[in-house]
Parts: sequence; structure tokens; C-alpha cells
Amino acid sequence: MAGKTKKPKLLVTGCNGLLGQKVVELAKPQFWIAGADLQDKPLGSVNEYITLDISQQEAVRDAVEKISPTSIVNTAAMTNVDACERERDLAWQVNVEGVRFLLEASQKTGCSLIQISSDYVFDGEEGPYGEDAPPNPSGYYGLTKMESERVLVGNQTPWAVVRTNVLYGWARGVRLNFVLWVRSHLLAGQYIRTAIDQYGNPTLADNLAEGVLSIVRAHRQGIYHIAGLDYLSRWAFAMKIADVFKLNKELIVPVVSAQLSQRAPRPHWGGLKTDRIVKEQGISMIGVQAGLEILKGQIPPEQLEVP
Ligand SMILES: NC(=O)c1ccc[n+]([C@@H]2O[C@H](COP(=O)([O-])OP(=O)(O)OC[C@H]3O[C@@H](n4cnc5c(N)ncnc54)[C@H](OP(=O)(O)O)[C@@H]3O)[C@@H](O)[C@H]2O)c1
Repeated sequence: MAGKTKKPKLLVTGCNGLLGQKVVELAKPQFWIAGADLQDKPLGSVNEYITLDISQQEAVRDAVEKISPTSIVNTAAMTNVDACERERDLAWQVNVEGVRFLLEASQKTGCSLIQISSDYVFDGEEGPYGEDAPPNPSGYYGLTKMESERVLVGNQTPWAVVRTNVLYGWARGVRLNFVLWVRSHLLAGQYIRTAIDQYGNPTLADNLAEGVLSIVRAHRQGIYHIAGLDYLSRWAFAMKIADVFKLNKELIVPVVSAQLSQRAPRPHWGGLKTDRIVKEQGISMIGVQAGLEILKGQIPPEQLEVP
């Protein structure tokens, strides 16, 4: 079946994650899609699915050779920043070596590679950051993301790095992102503590997927920042979430980061400037009010009242 298609072939690694599912959904009309992830089955509708651990060199090589994609979008990563501090070898193997193996396979088959990175490559002292700001990660997750970028920069193989931050959205079976975490606690009537000193520009996964695919289609290369329109603290974001879902704001307790005892350091002034993607690709970045309304509309009615 793959041989009969005239559509360009897209391989989405991490296709069962939040961004992976959004990329698959949005790319469907234009691309023949192969999805790859750790689980036995795909969560979205892909043309072909492969169970693949990107930290396994041979498996990556075989999968990419078999599919022979035009482009790979790598959304797979160890994304739990506190777990990355604890399990450093695993974080390195997935977030850095996995990207190296994808690059090697891309070089062999001649496809482009788009890697998703993070504002955690910066130290969070003076965000929001532009693409040319010097990386200086303060945690291990950020370090692995910076190294994943270094795997690609300067290569002959067409590559792009897309950095984002505070990703949120709704999709089947994904881990709780900030919005879903806040919503589930408030729905259950539980207090939550949120930082007044951690700033970023929250990014709707659908909006990020749109930007990523525009880069794939236009064969753009280099580093791009794709992030939401509004710059605000986690506490202010939680208050917005309560507003949109009509939940009890009194359960949201403002605290400073030091009171949260988070294992990995969090950026105080994180976030990303998006002038480049907006100017070059004409993408409109979505603010939190509109983003939350879109997310709310995607939750199946029977799950709207379920924490
Ligand atoms: N979430 C954020 O706020 C944020 C911010 C900045 C950048 N990013 C970056 O954006 C990208 C997408 O994030 P996301 O929130 O969509 O992540 P996600 O929901 O955690 O999805 C990642 C997917 O990759 C899979 N995966 C993990 N290890 C793998 C491996 N060794 N081989 C193959 N698949 C593997 C995960 O499976 P399991 O669920 O079974 O582990 C999951 O299905 C990541 O590169 C992330 O670092 C995220």
C-alpha cells in the first residue's frame, strides 16, 4: 500500500504523545503517515504503525529504511523533567542518542529530520528568548535537549529544531499536562499550589503541530521557536484555566518556586520569542483564552465533568 501512494511520507516518532497525535491528525490529508512509539498500538489513525524505541540504534535504522520517509518529525522524548534528573542515563539515551540514531538513519535514506526541543535549553534568567540566545541549561532535561540540538546543527542532512514551552492540549491517553492537571484537581475539589515566579508562554499543541508541519512543507531549516501569544506565570495560567472551565479559583494557592521542592530547576523567566516563525511562515500564535476554549471543545462531552 505504501508503494502506491503519491503523497509524501512522514514518519512521526512519539506518535502516541500529545504533540505526536496532533501532528498525525493535522498531517493526514497531505501525507502518508507512519507512526512509531513504545506502545503496541497507535492511538491515532496512521497508515502504518511500528513499535519502536528510538534509543535502539538497529531498530531505528531498520524502521527508517523500511518506511523510507520524506521527513521525520521526532516528538519522542523523555519529557518528565524531574525523572530526567533521577534517571540520567535513560534520559541521555532517549533524548540525545535517540536523536543521533534518527539522524544517522536520515543520512542513509536522504530524508529531513525535525527535532522538537525546549526553552529549558536556556537558564530562565531573562526570557522570553530569541533563537540566537546562547543555551545554558540549568537542569539535566535541558542539557539533553541542548545536546539533541547539537547532534543536528551543522549537518548536511536537512534538519530543523523547533523549540517550544509549557505545552498543553487534549488527546487520547496522554500524560497530564499543566492544563489537564489543574482541571482535574479543581474538578475534584482539591487545592493546588502554583508558582507566581515561573513565567512562560503556554503553547497549544494543535498550534505547535501547525507550525511544525509548515516547516516540513516549506522545507525550512535551522532553529525555530513556536510558542503561545501570552506571557504569564503558572499561577496566572491556572487562574485562566479555572475561568474557562468555570472552576473554583479559591483552590489555587499562589506560592514561590522554592516552596514547591521540585527536583529539577524550573526557569523563572522562561518562554520563547516567535517573530521568526510568524514572519517566515505566517503562522498566528494563539493566546491562552482562545487555546483553552479550543481544548475545552475537544474534550468529549461525557468526560467534561470527569477529573
Ligand atoms: N510538554 C512540554 O511542556 C514541553 C515543553 C517543551 C518541549 N517539549 C518537547 O516536545 C516534544 C513532545 O512533547 P509531548 O508533551 O507531546 O510529550 P509526550 O506526550 O510525553 O509524548 C512523547 C511520546 O514519546 C514516547 N516515548 C518516550 N520515550 C520513547 C522512546 N525511547 N522511543 C519512542 N518513543 C518514546 C512517549 O511514550 P511514553 O508515554 O510511554 O513514555 C510518548 O508517547 C518532546 O520532545 C518534548 O521534550 C515539551
